[in-house]
Amino acid sequence: MIPVCEPFLDGNEERYVLDCLTSNWISSAGKYIPAFEERFSGFCGAQYGVACSSGTAAIHLAVSALGIGPGDEVIIPSFTIIASANMVILSGARPVLVDVEPTTWCIDSRKIEERITPATKAIMAVHMYGHPCDMDPILDIARRHRLFVIEDAAEAHGAAYKGRKAGSIGDVGCFSFYGNKLLTTGEGGMTVTSNHAIAEKMRLLRNQAFEDPRFVHRFVGFNYRMTNIQAAIGLAQCERIEEKILRKREIAKRYTALLAPERDLTLPHEAAWAQNIYWMYGILLPDSYGRDRDATMRRLKEGGVETRPFFCPMHRQPVFQEGKDPRYPVTAGRFPVSDDLAARGLYLPSGLNLTDAQIHEVVEKLLACRA
Ligand SMILES: Cc1ncc(COP(=O)(O)O)c(C=O)c1O
Repeated sequence: MIPVCEPFLDGNEERYVLDCLTSNWISSAGKYIPAFEERFSGFCGAQYGVACSSGTAAIHLAVSALGIGPGDEVIIPSFTIIASANMVILSGARPVLVDVEPTTWCIDSRKIEERITPATKAIMAVHMYGHPCDMDPILDIARRHRLFVIEDAAEAHGAAYKGRKAGSIGDVGCFSFYGNKLLTTGEGGMTVTSNHAIAEKMRLLRNQAFEDPRFVHRFVGFNYRMTNIQAAIGLAQCERIEEKILRKREIAKRYTALLAPERDLTLPHEAAWAQNIYWMYGILLPDSYGRDRDATMRRLKEGGVETRPFFCPMHRQPVFQEGKDPRYPVTAGRFPVSDDLAARGLYLPSGLNLTDAQIHEVVEKLLACRA
């Protein structure tokens, strides 16, 4: 089976992890945590990094540190992973859905303003599959309406918007280091920001809001700490992040060269102002493909090629169907682009250890599904 993605550990990971084990620093204190925070946030072009246990935790830390809570609304794309909506809900606020663009698959800034109400506190821009959102219009709307901008850059390590790295453009950027991400710590995440007060608040909330005197608390916090072992892996991964980005872009280039002649397939986009890191090489199958997306995926699996479908949009989630909880997003309304992506989208094997021969095999088997 050609896997859709696997961790790629080709640097100092083993050496740094052994250092944690032999020095006995295996918990959430130790030198690798600040070293990883500094290195990754520096790579992003942000002043502060707060490492945490997952990308989901990173979003929750960001939302909480910005003071978003009951009675507030946060604009999110309808086409995203459910973590985006869930962390808003967990904070007591309500996600408000906006459709995405047919080209970048990211939130459509032209549709944001009509969803703003007096309760809106933030816009969550999710950089989809490695392509950044068109940030200038989003920042402009946020400025005019006095809203925070949270970037969910879980899938977009090193992606750039007009030369600025994803995660460093809004008030807070959130990253995931899950095993399938460009940079992985197994499980893990980080928030980055250049705002000292927000960074300190996230640091506090990450660790149960412990302050001095210990066990006396002024805030409701969480245990979202990252371990030194995870940070050791993260630091080693970060040392080679530029090579990883180049490899992802090379994989995408190969796929595109082979698939571009197939005029009815929609291939990933790279806007003139963007650097796409092609976290996953996503494609849209045409209706004319002869079989639907799920049947194509099944056929590929039988042929030894693992794929994944695109996200099921938030307005289609059974859990959010109206009336169950006042914090759930309103699912009524039309989100045609999200629906189209969800019906026709899938991503092909995109791991850093994918060989050229495997890319050829994937394409051959995909094209054989026509008929
Ligand atoms: C866009 C996006 N946001 C958030 C997350 C959540 O990250 P994690 O799985 O590390 O909690 C993911 C996970 O894949 C994601 O793709």
